[in-house]
Amino acid sequence: MTDGFGRKIEYLRLSVTDLCNLRCQYCMGPEGVEKRDHRDILSHEEIEEIVRAAVKLGVRKVRVTGGEPLVRPGIVDICRRIGAIGGVEELCVTTNGLRLPELAGALHKAGVCRLNISLDTLRPERYCEITRVGSLEKALAGLEAARAAGFPAPKLNCVLMGGVNDDEIPDFVAMTEREPVSVRFIELMPIGPCRDWDKSRFIPADAVLRAVPELTPVGGDGVARLYRLPGAAGTVGLIRPVSDHFCPACNRIRITADGKLKPCLHSATELPLRGLHGEALEAAIGAGILAKPQRHHLEAGSDSMRNMNAIGG
Ligand code: 5AD
Ligand code: SF4
Repeated sequence: MTDGFGRKIEYLRLSVTDLCNLRCQYCMGPEGVEKRDHRDILSHEEIEEIVRAAVKLGVRKVRVTGGEPLVRPGIVDICRRIGAIGGVEELCVTTNGLRLPELAGALHKAGVCRLNISLDTLRPERYCEITRVGSLEKALAGLEAARAAGFPAPKLNCVLMGGVNDDEIPDFVAMTEREPVSVRFIELMPIGPCRDWDKSRFIPADAVLRAVPELTPVGGDGVARLYRLPGAAGTVGLIRPVSDHFCPACNRIRITADGKLKPCLHSATELPLRGLHGEALEAAIGAGILAKPQRHHLEAGSDSMRNMNAIGG
């Protein structure tokens, strides 16, 4: 289906939980998020029904997000149900990787075709600092488990933070030399706890091109502009939600774990989908697509009433 500004909406990002086994400083407070009653979040059946309706309206790609989607009990069944829906051509999961050693094989069998793994640093102490409770060793074990389960080389998402991890740009880029990974640098968005952080933390993704001038442009992949080192196996992606808003190319809608459709990541608009079935459900999703704003105004601050863990990035 096409929205009010001629954008074809084919991509659904579905959050299956607000909870996470990490506490990344930019995303959450140290205490994490309050656990909700499981009745407050969409059941497996409701998720399946919503995705079926979205597919009828033209959705072709589904990404399961969180919080951390792999802490949701029954995540493999949820993925299996979505993967079995005719019309879902691509089912991806965005994860911090920590639970992949247990789950990668089952997710692969369930029909997940690709993983995006969040990794903001390659240094063990720094990983503890950024995530407050995580261990880099476990995240890297997750990467290895994904490979062993037969997944294609993942996209690694690295949120750039000035004075925190920008000195690691060359190390991340070097990872693409021998392996076909795609390392994607994402500009830190002023949403949630990092809203009030010092300006120096918010650096444009161009910092990557300044740090590694050998990178040459090789096209685009959705919202990422891709670059490659000469002769490298993998690519480097720059995702610039702040310095170059990519709203004209936005092809997505989002659904929160409690069943609200968010037409835009940064807008306060939410449409409740729970309790709707059949044509009423399709009509509500259609209305959500038509409610997509032309662009966000992140430069003036995000209007979203939720933190990232409740939207799924
Ligand atoms: N700015 C940019 N990216 C963010 N993420 C979470 N919060 C922010 C933010 N404020 C990222 C995570 C993960 C993805 C789901 O969203 O690091 O890679
Ligand atoms: Fe968890 Fe992702 Fe938030 Fe980190 S950014 S605390 S991994 S939801």
